[in-house]
Amino acid sequence: MKKWRLNFRVLSLFTLLAFVLSACGKPFLSTLKPAGEVAEEQYSLMLLSTAIMVLVIIVVTIIFIFVILRFRRRKGEENVIPKQVEGSRKLEIIWTVIPILLLIILTVPTVISTFKLADVKGMKDKDAVVVNVRANLYWWEFEYPNQKIITSQDLVVPTDKKVYFNIKASDVKHSFWIPSVGGKLDANTENDNKFWLVFDSKKSKEANGVFYGKCAELCGPSHSLMDFKVRAVSSGEFDTWAKDLKKAKPDVETASAKAGQEVFNESCIGCHAVDVKDNRPEQARQAPNLAGFSERERVAGVLPHNKENIKKWLKDPEKVKPGNKMSGTYPDLTDEQVNELADYLMSLKEK
Ligand code: CUA
Repeated sequence: MKKWRLNFRVLSLFTLLAFVLSACGKPFLSTLKPAGEVAEEQYSLMLLSTAIMVLVIIVVTIIFIFVILRFRRRKGEENVIPKQVEGSRKLEIIWTVIPILLLIILTVPTVISTFKLADVKGMKDKDAVVVNVRANLYWWEFEYPNQKIITSQDLVVPTDKKVYFNIKASDVKHSFWIPSVGGKLDANTENDNKFWLVFDSKKSKEANGVFYGKCAELCGPSHSLMDFKVRAVSSGEFDTWAKDLKKAKPDVETASAKAGQEVFNESCIGCHAVDVKDNRPEQARQAPNLAGFSERERVAGVLPHNKENIKKWLKDPEKVKPGNKMSGTYPDLTDEQVNELADYLMSLKEK
C-alpha cells in the first residue's frame, strides 16, 4: 500500500513537471520544440550532452557526500589519519578512462551530424529550393535564384523538403537563426556560408504556418529588432506564390493610393523596389524590396502589420528601429502624404 502511494506521488510529480515544462517554448520560436529534421537532430544532441552532464554531476555529488560523511572527524578519532591513496593506479585509470568514454559517446554522433548538416551538394540540383540570404542593418533580403525573384523580411519556404541557404552580409556581421527549425549560421561580409533546413509541415501547422527568425549576432542598436518571419507552406503553394508574385501588379485604385504612388516614386524608389524581378546589382539594392508588401506579417520586421503601424514607421522610423538606414533619407512628409503612402504600400499585393 505504502509503495503504491509513493509510486503515485512520483508519477504525479512527473506529470506536473511535464505539464509545467510543456509550457516552456513556443512552437514558432523555441529550440525546445524542434520543427524539422535539422532542429530535431540538434535537439537530440542537446539532450545527449545534457544527460551526460547530469549523470556526471549526480555521480560526483554522490561521491562527494559519501566522502564527507565517511571520512569526517569523529569524536575520539581526532588524530587518526585514514589510509592514503595518492598515486593509486586503479583510481587514476578509472578517472581517466571514464571521461574518455563519455567524450567518445558525445563526439561520434556530434561529428556525424556536423558533416551531415553541412552537406549542401544537393544545392546544385535543378529543382532544389535555394535561397540567397543577405543580411543588412536591420533587414533581410531573400533572393530565390531558381525562381528569379527577390523579396525581403518574409521568408517563404516549402515544407517537408530541403531548403538550401546561401548566407552573407552586406555591412557588418549578422547571424541567421530560425530557432525552432535549426541552429544559427553567421552572415559574413567576406564569404558565403551555406546550410540546409527542413520545415516540418505538421509542426508548421502547430505554429500557425509562421516561424520567427532572428539576427543572432550583436550588430548595432537595433540588433534585437532585426527579426524576420518564415511562412512555411506546401510545395504547391510555394510554386503558386512564386509565380503569382512575379506577375503581381500594384492594385492602385483609390485616389489616395495613386497620390501615394507619386510620393513613393519621388522619394522612395531610389532604394526600394516594388518588383520581385529586381535585376539591379546588390550594392544598388539598399533597402527591402517591397513587392507583395501588403501581405507581410510585420511592418519593419517588428510591428503588427496594419496601416496605423505603417504610418508610425514612415513618420519616424528612428523611433521604431534606432540606427536604421532609412531615417533622414527622405524629406519630411505631411500627415496626408504619410497616409497616402500607407495606402499605396497596402496596394502592393502578392498576386
Ligand atoms: Cu543583425 Cu544582429
